[in-house]
Amino acid sequence: MEISHGLLLLLFNLSLLLLAELVNGSTDTQRKPYIVYMGDLPKTGAVTAADHHSLLSAVVGSDRMARDSTIHSYGRSFNGFAARLLPHEAKILSEKEGVVSVFPNTMRKLHTTRSWDFLGMREKMKKRNPKAEINMVIGLLDTGIWMDCPSFKDKGYGPPPTKWKGKCSNSSGFTGCNNKVIGAKYYDLDHQPGMLGKDDILSPVDTDGHGTHTASTAAGIVVKNASLFGVGKGTARGGVPLARIAMYKVCWYTGCSDMNLLAGFDDAIADGVDVLSVSIGGTVGPFFEDPIAIGAFHAMRRGVLVSSSAGNDGPLEATVQNVAPWILTVGATGLDREFRSQVKLGNGMKASGVSVNTFSPRKKMYPLTSGTLASNSSGAYWGNVSACDWASLIPEEVKGKIVYCMGNRGQDFNIRDLGGIGTIMSLDEPTDIGFTFVIPSTFVTSEEGRKIDKYINSTKKAQAVIYKSKAFKIAAPFVSSFSSRGPQDLSPNILKPDIVAPGLDILAGYSKLAPISGDPEDRRFANFNILTGTSMSCPHVAAAAAYVKSFHPKWSPAAIKSALMTTGETS
Ligand SMILES: *[C@@H]1O[C@H](CO)[C@@H](O)[C@H](O)[C@H]1NC(C)=O
Ligand SMILES: *[C@@H]1O[C@H](CO)[C@@H](O)[C@H](O)[C@H]1NC(C)=O
Ligand SMILES: *[C@@H]1O[C@H](CO)[C@@H](O)[C@H](O)[C@H]1NC(C)=O
Ligand SMILES: *[C@@H]1O[C@H](CO)[C@@H](O)[C@H](O)[C@H]1NC(C)=O
Ligand SMILES: *[C@@H]1O[C@H](CO)[C@@H](O)[C@H](O)[C@H]1NC(C)=O
Repeated sequence: MEISHGLLLLLFNLSLLLLAELVNGSTDTQRKPYIVYMGDLPKTGAVTAADHHSLLSAVVGSDRMARDSTIHSYGRSFNGFAARLLPHEAKILSEKEGVVSVFPNTMRKLHTTRSWDFLGMREKMKKRNPKAEINMVIGLLDTGIWMDCPSFKDKGYGPPPTKWKGKCSNSSGFTGCNNKVIGAKYYDLDHQPGMLGKDDILSPVDTDGHGTHTASTAAGIVVKNASLFGVGKGTARGGVPLARIAMYKVCWYTGCSDMNLLAGFDDAIADGVDVLSVSIGGTVGPFFEDPIAIGAFHAMRRGVLVSSSAGNDGPLEATVQNVAPWILTVGATGLDREFRSQVKLGNGMKASGVSVNTFSPRKKMYPLTSGTLASNSSGAYWGNVSACDWASLIPEEVKGKIVYCMGNRGQDFNIRDLGGIGTIMSLDEPTDIGFTFVIPSTFVTSEEGRKIDKYINSTKKAQAVIYKSKAFKIAAPFVSSFSSRGPQDLSPNILKPDIVAPGLDILAGYSKLAPISGDPEDRRFANFNILTGTSMSCPHVAAAAAYVKSFHPKWSPAAIKSALMTTGETS
């Protein structure tokens, strides 16, 4: 059989194509996601994905290759794209005209009722501008939103303001927006096998609780009788309770990727949010390689103030994050309220420690032991016995008992897993944070701890009980221990953080898809939860900015920032 010359050529070309495919296939796995940032939108108008493809195809070899490696095109509020590149391609791109920076995609993390009264913004405060406030939109880049939380009911709300261009993703597990939450989108640009946690849902729904908490802190409606199983009972509400909410879900179980963050900014600014709250941070690096700095810059250019958290790495110095001059960087303070849980021993001694303990005791007293007594130090087990390290304890000695442990190691998990029913932990350094534990637990001082240990040693029948937490009034404000401190050397002539706001033990809305302690085995779910972090401070300041803007719609982000910083008070 004769094969025509043309057909041979075709076959030859086909095999070349296949070969090329194989070669590309092998390099594909070495390609890593990068962000190619190209600054402002061109004056001539919109950017399209085609513009990005043509720039990229010159570098990666073909138009098809360019299309395959592009992950996302930004172009509503600034210019740029995300693509899978080889390091040398990234370098070539970074030298192209019009490209500001090219940087690898990295992961950033979340900076995990009475607070508004404390700040002087009372519920019945006369000085409000409801007509303007109801047309304000607070945008948040976070973990999504749990629409069933009572803070987001839209009774009495009309349709979204006419300026609003945002949308709502209709997808699994998400019940859709309403006239209170007028925007909700999710971004999973780095979606790859293994990148999603088992509880992640591909929709704007909040399976973490963090986004629901920050959104309701900023703009939740007034909800009476809110509490965490009775702890912190009161009226919960946002700082601008009338304002609308737009949620941009950029964070997943694995964190918040740069690509997602930029996509959230790109949309939020173009959608028409008035203020953005971003309780996320990461390594401090050059502004051109920091998605929050880039996003906030373009937001500022469009008149949108961005409030962002300073980080939770205090009290160490030089730990502040989100330090770009155009960001309003927020540190955390305590409130005049502290949650304490009381401990009573069989001998009548009482101690009390900082803790968010939602459990009420059902018996008068429970058997009490210590890590030292419940351990086997003869070599079969290992670890620090007095600190109740998991492997140092004998389960039979722990079962059904409250266990006294030394040191701040979150031993509640160990004790729970070994069958214990409570733990009293003594701290070397006092703490200001009321943690939510998985079993009845509290922190006591080392001095109280020694007395408790002595009592345990003094009797064969040691007993104790840990009571449910109560709120105590304390002197305030004070900067929280965990709040990241300055200075910073990226823009040393600017002091950061800019401002502080409540971030310690804040009661706000929560997602019923997430256990209140974050522990998957915890079966406690609630509409409200008490959380701590500069993540919680950040939406307070976003709302304060929206409040100012409701009176001064023409003020620039810098003017609002200045007004807030120069009128801040300590009481
Ligand atoms: C999205 O959900 C809303 C509310 O449930 C519904 O009114 C709307 O028709 C849905 N849109 C689409 C495109 O499915
Ligand atoms: C207030 O909330 C608690 C706990 O959620 C509940 O038991 C109680 O019935 C509520 N009280 C009122 C007046 O709604
Ligand atoms: C401690 O471990 C040793 C070695 O396994 C064992 O012989 C001993 O019975 C253990 N003691 C207790 C109290 O469990
Ligand atoms: C065990 O932990 C406690 C509490 O943190 C600490 O004081 C003690 O020094 C530790 N002991 C050892 C042997 O490491
Ligand atoms: C209690 O007894 C344990 C074990 O004998 C010992 O290590 C500890 O120092 C004692 N505690 C006090 C406060 O005396």
